[in-house]
Amino acid sequence: MLRDVEVIAIDGPVAAGKTMVGRELAKRLDLRYLDTGVMYRAITWLALKNATPIEDEVALGTLADETPIMLDGSNSDRVLVDGISVGPELREAEVDRHVSLVSRVSSVRSALVAQQRRMASEGRIIVVGRDIGTVVLPNADLKIYITASSEERSRRRWKEFQAQGRETDYQSVLNETRARDDVDTQRDDSPLKPAEDAWVLDTDGLTGDEVVDLIVQRVNAEAQGGIACA
Ligand code: DC
Repeated sequence: MLRDVEVIAIDGPVAAGKTMVGRELAKRLDLRYLDTGVMYRAITWLALKNATPIEDEVALGTLADETPIMLDGSNSDRVLVDGISVGPELREAEVDRHVSLVSRVSSVRSALVAQQRRMASEGRIIVVGRDIGTVVLPNADLKIYITASSEERSRRRWKEFQAQGRETDYQSVLNETRARDDVDTQRDDSPLKPAEDAWVLDTDGLTGDEVVDLIVQRVNAEAQGGIACA
């Protein structure tokens, strides 16, 4: 059966390469790109900026409900948070430290999932996150779960931090990666896991370009002949 792959869900743990792969794939396939992690980061950034207590779930839910988040240009790292354009602020250490806690809150999740579905409803989009194939877009044309060992992912993050001039050692990055994996996979609401029909792609030993090539091949094969995701 021929089928166009126009809505792609990409999930996976921290530093699996989802963002780089998603953004590159969007360029190659001429699709829009939405990184939902940025939305959880935006609410966390706003809560820290407003001094909203991170343990106050009601206040966080209200903040997520009342804060429209929009893409600031296609495929960009920037989003408009209540009309303010933010980008690098969302990657600061303070946001990193608190975002898992904010993204555990169910009222925050439901507000952001509603916004994500609205953005995806116009079609032709790659949506990246932790629960896209399982919760946000269970009917996506293609669901991919990108993963790699915690050591490999920590090495990648550590290199990124070094490039940004952030002082940290590999062991701390490994500990933090594992702690974030625990929060993401063990939370009650929408825990990180592959959708039953997701294509699980282990990227240990693969470059980002190789991963993108593999996915483009798969999308083309589906458009030409149809492959059941497994
Ligand atoms: O991918 P990231 O590191 O930018 O994600 C930031 C946080 O948001 C991370 O703790 C997981 C969480 N997240 C989530 O719970 N659900 C999503 N769809 C996307 C991100």
